[in-house]
Amino acid sequence: MNALARSNPIALRLLLVLALPSAALAADPPAGDAARGATIAATCQGCHGAHGEGVPATGGPRLAGQTAEYLGAQLHNYADGRRTNPIMSAMAKGLDAQKQADVAAFFAAQSAPYAARTVEPAPEQLARGRTLTRVGDESKQLQACANCHGPDGAGERYATPYLAGQSAAYVASAIKEWKSGARHGGEAQMRPVAQRLDDQDIAAVSAYFESLGDNAH
Ligand code: HEC
Ligand code: HEC
Repeated sequence: MNALARSNPIALRLLLVLALPSAALAADPPAGDAARGATIAATCQGCHGAHGEGVPATGGPRLAGQTAEYLGAQLHNYADGRRTNPIMSAMAKGLDAQKQADVAAFFAAQSAPYAARTVEPAPEQLARGRTLTRVGDESKQLQACANCHGPDGAGERYATPYLAGQSAAYVASAIKEWKSGARHGGEAQMRPVAQRLDDQDIAAVSAYFESLGDNAH
């Protein structure tokens, strides 16, 4: 607060009023247009696939059919530093709010076959992943992923992204980012979850969700 505002209540009120419109804008992204987004998506294909199927070899996660709200919010998060990734921070900063919304609408409207699996988990590992997803682990006070991510990680529209069919390496790295505090957005829900997962359990849920690719979305 500056000296003028401190000494003058009217100036303070004026400052608060002036601050409001930008806050409202930030909370209310523009509506996206998938057709316009298709042109922008050409620059994303190398890492996310022509239809957002994901290209695990590049680390690019699956985007197809994830909601436009979620995808747009993540682009916004990369652009403003709430998420950091050398590639995606640069990509997102190159798109204004309208373009972020447009390309988000494009990938949300895609349905695409699943990228080839990247891990061959042992049966016990898949079983552990399934238990964590469906039941959780009371001994760790860990609730089931499905409570928030829907049955077998199918996603809950407007609340959580789908995980079913997502590449194992990406799921693992997202969880580790919440655990270390690097990823912001959703930390109220995901940080307590991530802190209760050790490396073995992270590998198990990641392998399990990747294995579900064939029967969801
Ligand atoms: C050179 C490769 C590359 C290109 C090009 C690229 N991305 Fe990405 N993208 C990635 C990687 C790697 C990640 C995972 C980053 C992380 O772990 O935070 C990612 C993550 C994302 C996410 C977060 C997904 C999620 O589930 O939270 C979105 C959204 C996204 N990219 C959209 C785009 C869009 C839109 C474009 C084109 C304008 C694009 N990307 C271009 C590599 C790329
Ligand atoms: C209390 C609700 C809640 C529970 C329980 C929960 N999640 Fe999440 N999760 C969320 C929310 C909300 C997001 C979206 C965060 C954001 O906006 O970035 C999310 C996002 C994620 C992502 C990022 C996906 C992406 O595309 O980047 C992963 C991975 C994930 N969760 C894994 C898990 C796993 C594994 C479990 C179970 C061990 C779990 N979650 C349990 C609420 C939850």
